[in-house]
Amino acid sequence: MKSPILVTGGTGTLGGHVVPLLREAGPDVRVLSRRSREPADGVEYVVGDLLRNEGVDDAVAGAEVVLHLAGGTKGDDEAARNLARAAARAGVGHLVMISVIGADRVPLAWMRSQRDAEQAVVDSGVSWTILRAAQFHDLVLKVVQSMTKMPVVPAPGGLRFQPVDARDVAERLVRLALGEPAGRVPDLAGPEVHPMDELLRGYLRARGRRRPLLPVRIPGKAGRAYRAGDNLTLDGDTGTRGWAEFLAERLRPAAGVAA
Ligand SMILES: NC(=O)c1ccc[n+]([C@@H]2O[C@H](COP(=O)([O-])OP(=O)(O)OC[C@H]3O[C@@H](n4cnc5c(N)ncnc54)[C@H](OP(=O)(O)O)[C@@H]3O)[C@@H](O)[C@H]2O)c1
Repeated sequence: MKSPILVTGGTGTLGGHVVPLLREAGPDVRVLSRRSREPADGVEYVVGDLLRNEGVDDAVAGAEVVLHLAGGTKGDDEAARNLARAAARAGVGHLVMISVIGADRVPLAWMRSQRDAEQAVVDSGVSWTILRAAQFHDLVLKVVQSMTKMPVVPAPGGLRFQPVDARDVAERLVRLALGEPAGRVPDLAGPEVHPMDELLRGYLRARGRRRPLLPVRIPGKAGRAYRAGDNLTLDGDTGTRGWAEFLAERLRPAAGVAA
């Protein structure tokens, strides 16, 4: 492929796995970031901000494929609209986006912004592929690390997660970005479904710690949606690496990861 692939979010957790895989596959890679960086390992960095709509036209110029991985705590819908419009103006041939399982079902503002971001891609006029993934192990690890700092750990009852390894998601996305536009492809979740208390206990066990768990109930519509499993896709595709394997790898003493 002669034109570069533009990767938004190429500096993030998922992007950190995607960019080297893309490089191995051959195409030149351009990464959009809010901070300037020197080119390295065949990767060019372009400064821009999707939310402020700055530098986006320059970032997409000449790219045949755009892989949209950038995301934050809010405004992902607006960011996707800005990117999708710029991609259409630049004549991009394939816009690939990562989204989240439950985007159209779980009534949380962040989930709605993912749903609206998907819609911006669908409405862009650019041929597209959207992959919805479950929560990454890295995110679940951050959550359980912070929850288990409390002397008594709240364990929301009825909540289940099917965390997926960001490396499995990256591998899938690279195949999708190098292929033809495919629309909504099967969701990708992890190989096992875990109740929240199991994720917490698995982490405590791996750290050799003990904490009492206090069952709590998440109120409201969001709690009902999670208890109903609206954040899960039980008939989608599954990644290869599970939570216990991720923990064993990540918490190995040699890895030097602080608890
Ligand atoms: N984490 C999960 O469990 C999960 C699950 C399903 C889907 N996803 C989706 O996967 C994507 C990547 O997640 P992640 O965990 O890898 O994210 P992350 O580590 O938090 O990284 C976020 C990335 O987005 C970029 N970014 C943020 N705001 C931006 C803006 N205004 N303009 C341009 N770039 C911006 C950042 O780039 P700079 O800081 O270099 O500007 C960074 O590369 C997100 O879209 C997220 O919604 C995540």
